[in-house]
Amino acid sequence: MKLEIEVRATTEEVVEAAAKLFVQVAQQSVRERGRFLVALSGGSTPRALHQKLASEEYRKQIDWENTEIFFGDERAVASDDERSNARMARESLLDSVPVPPHNVHFMRGAATDLNDAAREYGLLLQEVGSLDLILLGMGDDGHTASLFPHSPQLQEAKHRCVATPVSPTEPFLPRLTMTFPFLNSARNVLILVTGKSKAERISQVLPLVKSSTRNAEELPITNVQPEGTLTWLLDEVAGSLTGL
Ligand code: 6PG
Repeated sequence: MKLEIEVRATTEEVVEAAAKLFVQVAQQSVRERGRFLVALSGGSTPRALHQKLASEEYRKQIDWENTEIFFGDERAVASDDERSNARMARESLLDSVPVPPHNVHFMRGAATDLNDAAREYGLLLQEVGSLDLILLGMGDDGHTASLFPHSPQLQEAKHRCVATPVSPTEPFLPRLTMTFPFLNSARNVLILVTGKSKAERISQVLPLVKSSTRNAEELPITNVQPEGTLTWLLDEVAGSLTGL
């Protein structure tokens, strides 16, 4: 694994740096393999990144015809529910860029049987193999995607690409999530963390990340150690207790 930890002064600068990395990986993937496979994430900073990518300046630098969009996680709600990651992605990005609809692979959060939806999405992921880029955020408790501390799915998830945990925090919903083995098979993972509420957790997490130590039970995000490149992008406030 190649590790990069970058700190920017403001959230806006984090979003800008993330958009540049997104474009760079997209262009390189299309050049080398003819397509760009990316997984989006829920969360507030990803929403700002989507909006940046949809802007004129960035939109035109991406070959949307050859871009395939996946989701790292989804909440068990209807696709028009305001808690749906699919809805957030449509409103902030997908409705504003020329990505062909059949290139967008939503997780079926509204399925009556979530396990079926997980199996089906897992098969799709197995077919495509590794993704070029997976975007992730970190919750205040150290979760990522929908892999929560002390959740039984951390174990169960070892053998599957997609698991069905229940969020122990608001909103207390069942979810679908990519699992660690799949996240860690990616060529690039980009973790975006901004804001004061993350500072303390970041001060526990980053020393482990730097020494490649995993504490999946208590700090699930430390288990993200992909085969390719891992980039952490933080704003100064989130990194303020770590001496970065
Ligand atoms: C979700 C996410 C989740 C998120 C983090 C950080 O759908 O809830 O995928 O893992 O990325 O909780 O979210 P913020 O960026 O909003 O803090």
